[in-house]
Amino acid sequence: MAQNNIYLVGFMGTGKTSVGKALAKKKGSNFVDLDDLIELKERRRITDIFAQDGEPYFRRIERKTLKEVARQKNFVVACGGGIVIDPENIVVMKESGVMICLSAAPEVIIARTCGSSGRPLLNVADPKTQIELLLNLRAPYYAHADKSIDTSCLSLKEVVEKIIKMLLSGHTAGAKKRKENRRISKSA
Ligand code: S3P
Repeated sequence: MAQNNIYLVGFMGTGKTSVGKALAKKKGSNFVDLDDLIELKERRRITDIFAQDGEPYFRRIERKTLKEVARQKNFVVACGGGIVIDPENIVVMKESGVMICLSAAPEVIIARTCGSSGRPLLNVADPKTQIELLLNLRAPYYAHADKSIDTSCLSLKEVVEKIIKMLLSGHTAGAKKRKENRRISKSA
Protein backbone atom coordinates (compact mmCIF):
# COMPACT_ATOMS: atom_id res chain seq x y z
CA MET A 1 0.00 0.00 0.00
CA ALA A 2 1.12 3.59 -0.64
CA GLN A 3 2.74 5.12 2.41
CA ASN A 4 2.70 8.85 1.93
CA ASN A 5 -0.83 10.13 2.34
CA ILE A 6 -1.69 12.65 5.03
CA TYR A 7 -4.96 12.04 6.83
CA LEU A 8 -6.46 14.95 8.72
CA VAL A 9 -8.80 13.70 11.42
CA GLY A 10 -10.46 15.51 14.30
CA PHE A 11 -13.80 16.74 15.49
CA MET A 12 -16.21 18.70 13.31
CA GLY A 13 -15.19 22.35 13.06
CA THR A 14 -11.50 21.86 13.74
CA GLY A 15 -10.46 23.05 10.27
CA LYS A 16 -9.67 19.79 8.45
CA THR A 17 -10.97 20.86 5.04
CA SER A 18 -9.44 24.36 4.96
CA VAL A 19 -6.14 23.13 6.38
CA GLY A 20 -6.13 20.14 4.02
CA LYS A 21 -6.61 22.31 0.93
CA ALA A 22 -3.89 24.77 1.99
CA LEU A 23 -1.51 21.96 2.98
CA ALA A 24 -1.98 20.14 -0.32
CA LYS A 25 -1.34 23.37 -2.24
CA LYS A 26 1.83 24.05 -0.29
CA LYS A 27 3.13 20.49 -0.74
CA GLY A 28 2.04 20.14 -4.35
CA SER A 29 -0.09 17.15 -3.35
CA ASN A 30 -3.59 16.12 -4.33
CA PHE A 31 -6.45 16.96 -2.01
CA VAL A 32 -9.66 15.14 -1.30
CA ASP A 33 -12.39 15.69 1.24
CA LEU A 34 -13.77 12.25 2.07
CA ASP A 35 -17.29 13.56 2.78
CA ASP A 36 -17.37 15.35 -0.60
CA LEU A 37 -16.31 12.11 -2.27
CA ILE A 38 -19.05 10.19 -0.43
CA GLU A 39 -21.63 12.78 -1.51
CA LEU A 40 -20.44 12.48 -5.13
CA LYS A 41 -20.60 8.69 -5.07
CA GLU A 42 -23.98 8.62 -3.38
CA ARG A 43 -25.33 11.60 -5.35
CA ARG A 44 -26.89 13.04 -2.18
CA ARG A 45 -25.90 15.14 0.80
CA ILE A 46 -24.49 13.61 4.00
CA THR A 47 -27.61 14.83 5.86
CA ASP A 48 -29.80 12.91 3.40
CA ILE A 49 -27.68 9.76 3.74
CA PHE A 50 -28.13 9.90 7.52
CA ALA A 51 -31.85 10.70 7.25
CA GLN A 52 -32.65 8.10 4.59
CA ASP A 53 -30.33 5.20 5.47
CA GLY A 54 -28.99 5.95 8.96
CA GLU A 55 -25.54 6.37 10.46
CA PRO A 56 -24.43 2.68 10.17
CA TYR A 57 -24.94 2.85 6.39
CA PHE A 58 -22.94 6.09 6.24
CA ARG A 59 -20.12 4.47 8.25
CA ARG A 60 -19.97 1.53 5.81
CA ILE A 61 -19.66 3.88 2.83
CA GLU A 62 -17.11 5.96 4.75
CA ARG A 63 -14.96 2.86 5.43
CA LYS A 64 -15.18 1.72 1.80
CA THR A 65 -14.33 5.20 0.46
CA LEU A 66 -11.36 5.53 2.81
CA LYS A 67 -9.98 2.20 1.56
CA GLU A 68 -10.26 3.38 -2.04
CA VAL A 69 -8.47 6.64 -1.28
CA ALA A 70 -5.77 4.80 0.70
CA ARG A 71 -4.70 3.03 -2.50
CA GLN A 72 -3.72 6.40 -3.97
CA LYS A 73 -0.41 8.14 -3.39
CA ASN A 74 0.48 11.67 -2.44
CA PHE A 75 -2.95 12.71 -1.18
CA VAL A 76 -3.96 15.02 1.63
CA VAL A 77 -7.26 13.62 2.88
CA ALA A 78 -9.69 15.61 5.04
CA CYS A 79 -11.70 12.97 6.92
CA GLY A 80 -15.10 13.19 8.57
CA GLY A 81 -14.99 13.69 12.33
CA GLY A 82 -16.29 10.21 13.13
CA ILE A 83 -13.88 8.21 10.98
CA VAL A 84 -11.73 7.30 13.99
CA ILE A 85 -14.44 5.34 15.81
CA ASP A 86 -13.77 2.36 13.55
CA PRO A 87 -10.40 0.77 14.47
CA GLU A 88 -10.12 -0.66 10.96
CA ASN A 89 -10.05 2.90 9.59
CA ILE A 90 -7.20 3.82 11.92
CA VAL A 91 -5.16 0.87 10.68
CA VAL A 92 -5.89 1.77 7.02
CA MET A 93 -4.78 5.38 7.59
CA LYS A 94 -1.62 4.44 9.44
CA GLU A 95 -0.62 1.81 6.90
CA SER A 96 -0.97 4.26 4.03
CA GLY A 97 0.28 7.47 5.56
CA VAL A 98 0.28 9.65 8.63
CA MET A 99 -2.70 10.57 10.74
CA ILE A 100 -2.79 14.09 12.06
CA CYS A 101 -5.50 15.18 14.47
CA LEU A 102 -6.73 18.75 14.51
CA SER A 103 -8.40 19.73 17.74
CA ALA A 104 -10.06 22.84 19.14
CA ALA A 105 -11.59 23.95 22.41
CA PRO A 106 -15.30 23.06 22.78
CA GLU A 107 -16.35 26.74 22.70
CA VAL A 108 -14.40 27.24 19.45
CA ILE A 109 -16.07 24.18 17.92
CA ILE A 110 -19.48 25.42 19.02
CA ALA A 111 -18.84 28.85 17.47
CA ARG A 112 -17.48 27.36 14.23
CA THR A 113 -20.29 24.83 13.74
CA CYS A 114 -23.32 26.81 14.86
CA GLY A 115 -25.54 27.95 12.04
CA SER A 116 -24.58 25.12 9.70
CA SER A 117 -27.24 22.50 9.07
CA GLY A 118 -24.98 20.18 7.07
CA ARG A 119 -23.88 18.12 10.07
CA PRO A 120 -26.61 15.62 10.99
CA LEU A 121 -25.08 14.74 14.35
CA LEU A 122 -25.34 18.38 15.44
CA ASN A 123 -28.91 18.90 14.20
CA VAL A 124 -30.24 18.36 17.72
CA ALA A 125 -32.04 20.50 20.28
CA ASP A 126 -28.90 21.10 22.34
CA PRO A 127 -25.81 21.01 20.06
CA LYS A 128 -23.52 22.28 22.83
CA THR A 129 -24.23 19.27 25.08
CA GLN A 130 -23.98 16.96 22.06
CA ILE A 131 -20.57 18.41 21.13
CA GLU A 132 -19.26 17.98 24.68
CA LEU A 133 -20.59 14.42 24.84
CA LEU A 134 -19.10 13.40 21.49
CA LEU A 135 -15.77 15.08 22.30
CA ASN A 136 -15.51 13.02 25.49
CA LEU A 137 -16.55 9.81 23.77
CA ARG A 138 -14.11 10.27 20.92
CA ALA A 139 -11.07 11.54 22.82
CA PRO A 140 -9.53 8.03 23.15
CA TYR A 141 -9.92 7.45 19.41
CA TYR A 142 -8.36 10.75 18.38
CA ALA A 143 -5.46 9.87 20.69
CA HIS A 144 -4.34 7.27 18.10
CA ALA A 145 -3.19 10.07 15.77
CA ASP A 146 0.53 10.35 15.09
CA LYS A 147 0.37 14.01 16.00
CA SER A 148 -2.23 16.48 17.30
CA ILE A 149 -2.48 20.21 16.74
CA ASP A 150 -4.80 22.49 18.67
CA THR A 151 -6.14 24.93 16.08
CA SER A 152 -8.14 27.08 18.54
CA CYS A 153 -5.78 30.05 18.46
CA LEU A 154 -3.83 29.41 15.26
CA SER A 155 -4.27 30.87 11.79
CA LEU A 156 -4.62 28.57 8.80
CA LYS A 157 -1.06 29.44 7.77
CA GLU A 158 0.28 28.59 11.21
CA VAL A 159 -1.42 25.20 11.27
CA VAL A 160 -0.06 24.35 7.82
CA GLU A 161 3.46 25.44 8.81
CA LYS A 162 3.29 23.31 11.95
CA ILE A 163 2.30 20.26 9.92
CA ILE A 164 5.05 20.82 7.34
CA LYS A 165 7.63 21.24 10.10
CA MET A 166 6.44 18.10 11.80
CA LEU A 167 6.57 16.09 8.58
CA LEU A 168 10.07 17.35 7.85
CA SER A 169 11.25 16.40 11.32
CA GLY A 170 10.05 12.84 10.64
CA HIS A 171 7.98 13.07 13.79
CA THR A 172 5.37 10.67 12.60
CA ALA A 173 7.33 8.08 10.69
CA GLY A 174 8.05 4.42 10.86
CA ALA A 175 8.40 1.82 13.53
CA LYS A 176 6.33 3.50 16.24
CA LYS A 177 3.42 3.64 13.84
CA ARG A 178 3.61 0.01 12.84
CA LYS A 179 3.90 -1.10 16.48
CA GLU A 180 0.81 0.97 17.26
CA ASN A 181 -1.04 -0.68 14.34
CA ARG A 182 -0.37 -4.12 15.70
CA ARG A 183 -1.75 -2.98 19.06
CA ILE A 184 -4.92 -1.53 17.48
CA SER A 185 -5.49 -4.67 15.39
CA LYS A 186 -5.17 -6.87 18.48
CA SER A 187 -7.58 -4.76 20.54
CA ALA A 188 -10.16 -4.45 17.70
C1 S3P B 1 -19.27 13.45 11.30
C2 S3P B 1 -18.58 14.52 10.78
C3 S3P B 1 -18.86 15.08 9.46
C4 S3P B 1 -19.50 14.03 8.54
C5 S3P B 1 -20.69 13.42 9.20
C6 S3P B 1 -20.33 12.74 10.53
C7 S3P B 1 -18.94 12.96 12.64
O1 S3P B 1 -17.67 15.57 8.85
O2 S3P B 1 -18.59 13.04 8.21
O3 S3P B 1 -21.64 14.43 9.42
O4 S3P B 1 -19.36 11.84 12.99
O5 S3P B 1 -18.22 13.68 13.38
P1 S3P B 1 -16.87 16.90 9.34
O6 S3P B 1 -16.04 16.51 10.51
O7 S3P B 1 -16.04 17.24 8.15
O8 S3P B 1 -17.89 17.92 9.66
